[in-house]
Amino acid sequence: MTTSSVLLRQVRLYGTGEPVDVLIADGVIAEIGRPDAPAGAEVIDGDGQILLPGFVDLHTHLREPGREDAETIETGSAAAALGGYTAVFAMANTDPVADNAVITDYVWRRGQEVGLVDVHPVGAVTVGLAGERLAEMGTMANSAARVRMFSDDGHCVFDPLVMRRALEYSTALGVVVAQHAEDPRLTVGAQAHEGERAARLGYPGWPASAEESIVARDCVLARHAGARLHICHVSAAGTVDVLRWAKELGTAVSAEVTPHHLLLTDERLSTFDPVNKVNPPLRSEADVQRMRQALADGVIDCVATDHAPHAPQDKDCEWAAARPGMLGLQTALSVVVETMVRPGLLDWRGVARVLSERPAQIAGLPDQGRPLAEGEPANLVLVDPDTEWTVQGSELASRARNTPYEGLRLPAVVSATLLRGRITSREGKLV
Ligand code: DOR
Repeated sequence: MTTSSVLLRQVRLYGTGEPVDVLIADGVIAEIGRPDAPAGAEVIDGDGQILLPGFVDLHTHLREPGREDAETIETGSAAAALGGYTAVFAMANTDPVADNAVITDYVWRRGQEVGLVDVHPVGAVTVGLAGERLAEMGTMANSAARVRMFSDDGHCVFDPLVMRRALEYSTALGVVVAQHAEDPRLTVGAQAHEGERAARLGYPGWPASAEESIVARDCVLARHAGARLHICHVSAAGTVDVLRWAKELGTAVSAEVTPHHLLLTDERLSTFDPVNKVNPPLRSEADVQRMRQALADGVIDCVATDHAPHAPQDKDCEWAAARPGMLGLQTALSVVVETMVRPGLLDWRGVARVLSERPAQIAGLPDQGRPLAEGEPANLVLVDPDTEWTVQGSELASRARNTPYEGLRLPAVVSATLLRGRITSREGKLV
């Protein structure tokens, strides 16, 4: 089999040091230094741009099967490739729910057919996301899709006995359980972050304690089960204290924060625009500052998008009726640069850590988030840090349009994404 080669000229590895040329052949990094371009090689002039390992998103909603009017595996994969991603984890809250190997294998196969990004299906923890009976985790883990992450995301696995059993099974299977930490008894009817703004508008509040208490409980359960636990979309400052405590005790817990919880606050409530409705909700400025600090110092391990496309009829309606969620795949890098790199909280090595290396480790992907070194798989992203762009929902590849960043000017663009040495996006276009 002959595969084409690509020469990346004058790129800076992790944004440091002198620019080098990187030759990619047969899906791996063949040579770093001053290689000659082989005949027929595609040459990308990096012009000093930054080379990073391809991004890995632990938390994406692709809506297929069931809500192809909001997103499909094809349109979501396109958004991922354009956003610099080489692997995404597709959440299980589809219709039908991905609580069995037929659905998870379908998602996996369809992702391979589209071929723009590795789409790893997340399996549901419980049948129908109902929180009562465990789904057949073992069958999904051993199927063609080799499901490595299980989550009822969108719903909390609330029953502690069910959660305990899921964690116990996960250790035997070598997989990770990702919890949507929300005590549903504390968030009945909740529409927004519990605070002054929601109170003034008359919106029932979503208290931080609903998140903190489930994280604390699950850290205890995971420690006793000897299991690995992942916490989805941390939003509240107090959760950082809980995570720090659990990690100090040696609990195998990891956590993600979304780009929107790094940038936006509940000040957005005053717009009344449901594009700002998300679960967990946008919180206070103090929470946002705490998310940034926790990501910088590693208490929060990584950034995951919670890319949540919704059809217009589910968003262009009154606040209370609107579905929670916002697009994230094509804007994640820029929001991380705006909130973490520009203020000096992360350097580009840190960006590689939070967008690629840690998520790949958490999910156990052997071929992603790898070092930029000869012989390593060429899952890569080339970033132009100096160009700004203005977000326009109509220009994004997602089928849905619910970006909260409409009209916002953000730093950094993805110049190229490579999946196993094949260019999947270049200069904002799919290849
Ligand atoms: O805002 C959210 N949207 N949070 C979730 O947990 C689920 C997601 C969705 O599926 O739309």
